[in-house]
Amino acid sequence: MSIARRDFLKVVGGASVAGSLAGYGVNVGAASAAVPAFGFADDSVPMNAANLCPMPTLVSEAHAKYAKALDLSLSTASRQAIEAHKEDARSRIAAMLGTSADELAIVRNTSEANNVIVQGIPLEEGDEIVLWDQNHPSNSVAWEVQASRSGGTVRHFSIPNNAGSIDEVVDHFVAAISDKTRVVSFTHISNISGFRTPAAEICEAVRARKDDIHIHIDGAQTWGAVDVNIGAIECDSFSGSAHKWFMGPREVGLLYVRERHIDNIWPNVVSIPWGSTKDDAPEGARKFDALGQRDDAAVAALADAAGFHETMTPAGIEARSAIIANRLRAGLQDLGVNFVSSANPAFTSSIVILSVPRENSRQLVGQVFDDSGIQTAGTGGLRMSPHVYNTEDHVDRVVAAIKKNRALLS
Ligand SMILES: Cc1ncc(COP(=O)(O)O)c(C=O)c1O
Repeated sequence: MSIARRDFLKVVGGASVAGSLAGYGVNVGAASAAVPAFGFADDSVPMNAANLCPMPTLVSEAHAKYAKALDLSLSTASRQAIEAHKEDARSRIAAMLGTSADELAIVRNTSEANNVIVQGIPLEEGDEIVLWDQNHPSNSVAWEVQASRSGGTVRHFSIPNNAGSIDEVVDHFVAAISDKTRVVSFTHISNISGFRTPAAEICEAVRARKDDIHIHIDGAQTWGAVDVNIGAIECDSFSGSAHKWFMGPREVGLLYVRERHIDNIWPNVVSIPWGSTKDDAPEGARKFDALGQRDDAAVAALADAAGFHETMTPAGIEARSAIIANRLRAGLQDLGVNFVSSANPAFTSSIVILSVPRENSRQLVGQVFDDSGIQTAGTGGLRMSPHVYNTEDHVDRVVAAIKKNRALLS
């Protein structure tokens, strides 16, 4: 059974969840946009947006339509018509993220975007790279590999999960910086704890401490999940994957590079559409997405995914996702179970993680799926990352399944 549009409309209004959510400060009236249907079956419901999201049916149909059009005709006109969607997507995403289109590269995923920065920033002997210890390997191990090559050094630092205030978090960043720091790189929302960092405040404080540091933000758990304005955050680069919270095509990703840095960051791959000389680079950040032949149908479908976000609005999506995540948090709190994810509203996200002994994690994910038909993940504990396609019923089913299997939590 697929999720019908009327079911979304029923829950998107949010009135029935308002009472239990008021304590989280969520404006349940904010998410009033209509949500198109998704096609997943009711006995196989994704609640793992932090890993992979389904595309809305309209987007996957557009993807299939573009692929078919190419198979029916590889004429120049047909290819150019499909390829034109890439620039359309770039402009529309730039408008939503508060950047210019020239600052966005459409790459393959967050790993690639992170690695453009890791490998593209010219580092010198002794340069220090400061990393949050919850970074993904593509933004952590990748820096270590790069530092071994360039003679740089890597310093990891922690933020206590029970941090009490934004100032406290910011202080941990500033304390980790030295006069040698060249790069600070962190994950906006952690995939292993769900901790949402106060990115704008961090960037401001890092700049005040040393203004020539390159600040990179891994936005894999942010882009498409929250209403982020990159222009206002004042970071230097930002990465994301369309196949996560953006609910877009798989193997399509995003790299933002602030205009003033584009010339100084080396591209990892140089291919068409560069011209015939090294000075003939594509315009702006496009030089980072000159990856040779792409799956043009997938890239084109990015524009359709952007249309979905425009319809719901990024703020509407964030609010809707928060309503469901907060219902989930509330239901789990009622069970009295232990959380990995922070309960402090300043740092919560739609990634909710319960503490589970490592040896039970896989079994619990399997049991929860068998009992509820909800797909969770074993990352960082029992990880649930609901998004706009999840309903109150999905939340209630997953909570009931966890209650039934709670012996595996300890
Ligand atoms: C924070 C973070 N960064 C990067 C990645 C890598 O994403 P991708 O596999 O799409 O490159 C992930 C994947 O889960 C992630 O959570």
